[in-house]
Amino acid sequence: MRRRASLAALGLALLAACGPQPDKSAKSVGEEREPMPAPLTAIQSSSITLPTDEQTFGAGQDAALLDRSCLACHSASMILYQPPLTRKQWTATVDKMREAYRAPIEARDTEAIVDALMAKAPSSR
Ligand code: HEC
Repeated sequence: MRRRASLAALGLALLAACGPQPDKSAKSVGEEREPMPAPLTAIQSSSITLPTDEQTFGAGQDAALLDRSCLACHSASMILYQPPLTRKQWTATVDKMREAYRAPIEARDTEAIVDALMAKAPSSR
């Protein structure tokens, strides 16, 4: 009987020693905290003005042909902002669009397309 009582006392003592301990490092609400470190950069609002993006080549037959041939993959601006190209260079570009990138252009329309590009896009003759 005595032995059982001492075992129970030992169990209680172990529980008290190993049970959850109050966290002495935790601070209660409202208590002073360490200050936040200063941010590395200051974030500011700013605005930029984007250039106008011409979606089509405008009015006229040349424009309509280029709209049909090129706009599936490019904006008109992308083509109009190219450096001035010669007829030979524009022809090579149109051929590349058809052959390498599978632009839906008939080979027999290449000349008309290049004429339109020479008229509309930057070109050097
Ligand atoms: C089927 C999609 C498609 C069509 C239609 C198309 N292109 Fe392209 N084009 C491309 C791809 C893809 C590139 C390569 C883009 C890159 O390299 O970032 C490109 C690039 C270009 C470039 C950049 C220079 C170069 O040689 O790579 C020019 C100029 C150009 N195209 C003009 C045209 C013109 C003019 C037309 C109409 C006659 C046209 N494209 C129709 C897909 C197309």
